[in-house]
Parts: sequence; structure tokens; C-alpha cells
Amino acid sequence: MKRKWWHDKVAYQIYPKSFYDTNADGIGDLRGIIEKLDYLADLGIEILWLSPVYLSPFADQGYDIADYYQIDPRFGTMEDMDELIAEAKKRGISILMDLVVNHCSDEHIWFQKAIADPDGPYGKYFYLEKDDGQLPCNWRSYFGGPCWDRLPGTDRLYLHVFHKKQPDLNWENPEVRNEIYKNINWWLEKGLGGFRIDAIINIKKALPFHDYPADRADGLSSIDNMLEEASGIGVFLQEMRQQTFEKYDAFTVGEVFHSKAEELSSFIGEDGFFSTMFDFRPVCFSSSANGFYDYRPITPEDYKQCIFTSQAEAQEIGFYANVIENHDGPRGASHYLPADGCHDTGKKMLATISLMLRGIPFIYQGQELGMENTVFSSIEDIDDINTLAEYETAKKAGLSDQEALSAVSKYSRDNARTPMQWTNGAQAGFTQGTPWLPVNPNYTAINAASQLADENSVLSYYKKLIALRRDSRYKETLVYGKTVPFLAGQKNLTAFLRQSDQQNILVLANYQSAPQEAALPFKRFRTLLSNYPDTVFDPKKECLTLRSYEAKILLEL
Ligand code: GLC
Ligand code: CA
Repeated sequence: MKRKWWHDKVAYQIYPKSFYDTNADGIGDLRGIIEKLDYLADLGIEILWLSPVYLSPFADQGYDIADYYQIDPRFGTMEDMDELIAEAKKRGISILMDLVVNHCSDEHIWFQKAIADPDGPYGKYFYLEKDDGQLPCNWRSYFGGPCWDRLPGTDRLYLHVFHKKQPDLNWENPEVRNEIYKNINWWLEKGLGGFRIDAIINIKKALPFHDYPADRADGLSSIDNMLEEASGIGVFLQEMRQQTFEKYDAFTVGEVFHSKAEELSSFIGEDGFFSTMFDFRPVCFSSSANGFYDYRPITPEDYKQCIFTSQAEAQEIGFYANVIENHDGPRGASHYLPADGCHDTGKKMLATISLMLRGIPFIYQGQELGMENTVFSSIEDIDDINTLAEYETAKKAGLSDQEALSAVSKYSRDNARTPMQWTNGAQAGFTQGTPWLPVNPNYTAINAASQLADENSVLSYYKKLIALRRDSRYKETLVYGKTVPFLAGQKNLTAFLRQSDQQNILVLANYQSAPQEAALPFKRFRTLLSNYPDTVFDPKKECLTLRSYEAKILLEL
């Protein structure tokens, strides 16, 4: 495998609106990120992905872009952005912007021009169809309802697979693609490390538009059916890579749902379309075509199955990007840990698994503190358009208001979007003003300031895990070594070896509160890291007893 500059890096995702506010308007900003660069460098982060900071009406919190060449004034200025890139570079950190090019905002000049003249060149930037009283197809938008709306003041309909303020860009039109590539290169010229690439699987539509069998009472069909059928996306992705990323040796991470297993090597193999893509197998495990109300919890055994499947799949091909949370779902600690394990020890165990897997670890802001889901006392507390749509879906399926609220609370994207908890002071030290989204009330117990001062905190543990990955003595094994499942059939034990020619490193996690024994594959070892200060080992039986949610990283001697 050709060695790449990003193979051994740990990445961190910032959701700028909720990271750190420096001008008291309740909204995190670029200057706030600059101020916290030392915190991130100290954590060991070398790649920093910013969720969108471009000019946007914020219908979908910046994932609806009105100008790809401007910073939204709520976040700051282009000078701030340049300064952020430069300051990050000084600390060995590469910045990734979010590339949102399946759609733009309905307030983008292209869409405005399409409205003014649907038959003109900008009409061809979008998918416009004559409105003859029937929808061109029955696809359901991700945020609810049909994915067609009337192009204002015209006799046309336009396609939006997400919100109606997010019209899909027509990738079949080479002019659109060229505009996108021009923008990507413009940013790379500024010195970005690369991009996280949003909703990229959606750029290829199965054309001409046609219906699929309805899968709910609304008569619509999930977009998944279309994605299943669409083929030929590789032509676009290959072209994009060659015209942009490749020339800059940029790092790219794709948000790819519904990829086809046989395509993995074209996506993330040597010279693949992307450097890596997120492993969403554990996320998808919980989901249901019916919506949030029908999602199921994921057990430790399910989680183990998911990660081992993904590890095996990517092993000979490339690297997945491993995540336990992002801005689109619940907090990892609340979602992946059983209720009796949602404490510091459990959180450290989960971190051990996630960061010791083969792949590029992505930490989401606050994950390193063990931030948890928040509480919503009514639907009015929820800001996110997706959660609001899911609430309606749940009610249409017959749930009461209370049941619908409790169902969507578990999966709401707002769980991850509450402000970062910096201190135990007012508004968790996030802002001097009123935060755009309420702070999670648990900030007095969970915050960066207290954890920085505590050698045994979740944050300190994350630092040690990252330092271990970066340690030149183990790097070769932890970055490039194989993942070999160990005692995979032993219930609620998640264990695997990381193996290189030089070394065996064993990761053990007791994913339950009851203790259990684990027979070791070797006699002599040294503990590299653990969430317990000591080890219960019986040398006669060559057996280790793992206590409640105990995790161990052992080096074979
Ligand atoms: C991606 C983003 C999500 C956004 C959607 C539409 O899934 O992560 O936040 O709503 O794309 O852009
Ligand atoms: Ca601000």
C-alpha cells in the first residue's frame, strides 16, 4: 500500500455553530475555533473537519449553501478563515471544509436565475420538469413529503431530495460539474487539507424519473430504491478526483450511504475516488425505512458484528473512517452504551474500541468529554428540520405526542448539536450571550475545564489513546496492522488483535457490567493502556478477569 500523509492522523469534527462563540451572539464562530486550536493540538488532532461555514440561510444549518465562495457573516470573514488555515498549519493541523454539492440553497444565484428563466442556461443547473398535475416521480424527500416543489412563478417543478430549500444540482450537466471543480480548486489553493464530502451518493439519479412501489401510506417511496438502481456514479467521482483532489494530494472523506460492497475498492482503494469514507454500518444497523419511531437499539453484540464486518471488508482495500457520532445523530455514549455503562469507565471502553480499530478515527466535538444526549421536554425544544419531520411521521403512524417525542428524542440530531461544554460556568462557557440551542443541563458535571485538570477524566484518556496511536513504537501496527477478531463468539466481549510483522497488540473490552474472563493468546504482555489502574490476571490459567466495562490494550512480549 502506498503510504499517504493522512494514514496515521486522528481527525476531529467541529460543528462550528456550537463550538465556541467569541462575540456573544450565541453562535459559535471561526475566531472561536482559532482560540481553541491549542486545545485540539494538545488532544493530538491533526485533521480538522468543519461542518459548513459558507454563506447560507441555515434552513439545514449551513448544508444549504447560497455562495460557495463566501463565509457566512455569522461565522466571521474570509480573513478569519485564512487565519484559521494558517494558525492550524502552524500546529500541524490540516483543515477540511465540508463539500456540499448534491444540492445548493434555493437562495443561490444559480437557482434565482433558474427561476427567472427556466429555459435559460441556469434552468439546466437543476432538475426541472413541467408541472402537468402529476409528480414526475414518487420519491420521498429525506426530510419528509414529496421531493418535488413548484419553481416559484413558473409552470415547472424542481427536484430536492432533501429540504425544499435544497434544490438538487444537475450533475449530468458538464457546466455544473465544472463550476463545482473550479470551487474545489479555489479552496485547495488556499491551503486546505481536503474535504468531507456530503451526501455524495445522491448526485447520480436513476433517470428518466420514475416511480417505485410506495412503501408508506403517503404513496411515496424511499430514495433508497432509486439509489439502489442508479448506476454510473463512478464516472462523476473519477472526473472530480482527477480535476481536483488528486492534483493537490488532498485528503477526502466521503459521506457514503448505500454503497455497493463490490464498489468499495473503486471508492477507497488505491487511487480510489476518496481517501476514505465513513463506516456507517453501526449507524445503519439501528435505522428503519419507517422512520425514527421504528429504529431499534443496538446491542454490544450487534455493534461487534458491525465493526468486525467493516474491518474485514476494508482490510485488503483501504481505510474506513471510524466514528461513533457526528452532527447527524445521537451522542455515541448514549447510543452505544447500555444505560448501566453510560459512565466514564464505559465511555473510555467505547473510545478504546473505536480508536484502536484499523482506519482513520474521527472524533466529534464533545465526544472526547463523553458528552451525552440532551433532554427535550417538548417538541418546541427541537430545532432540527429532520427531527421535526420524523415527529410528524411518528404521529402519522399512530403514536401519541408523548410517544412521538420520546421516540425522536433518542435519535434527534439536536442531541449532537447542543453547545460544546467548556466550563461549569454560565452556558457551559460556550457563549457570553444566549446560545442558539440550549446547553445540555449536565454541563456542570461534564466539561472540558474540569477534565483537563483530572488525570483520570474521559478527556485525559482520549489524549492517551491518541498519543498511543501516534507513538512511533506502535504506529506501524496500529495504523497498518491487520485487525483479527479474537474470541468473537464470547458474549459481550469485544476483542481483537492488531497485528503487524513486528508486533501483536490485543484490545479487550468487557461490554457489560458483569465481570467476565478472557483467555489470552499469549503468556507475557505489558499493558499499554486501560480504563482500570490494575490488572486481574491468573498466570496459571493464562486468563484475565475483566471487570465492569473494563478495557485493556496489551502488547505481547
Ligand atoms: C448530510 C449532512 C446532513 C445534511 C444532509 C443534507 O447528511 O451530514 O447534516 O442535512 O447531508 O445536506
Ligand atoms: Ca459568534
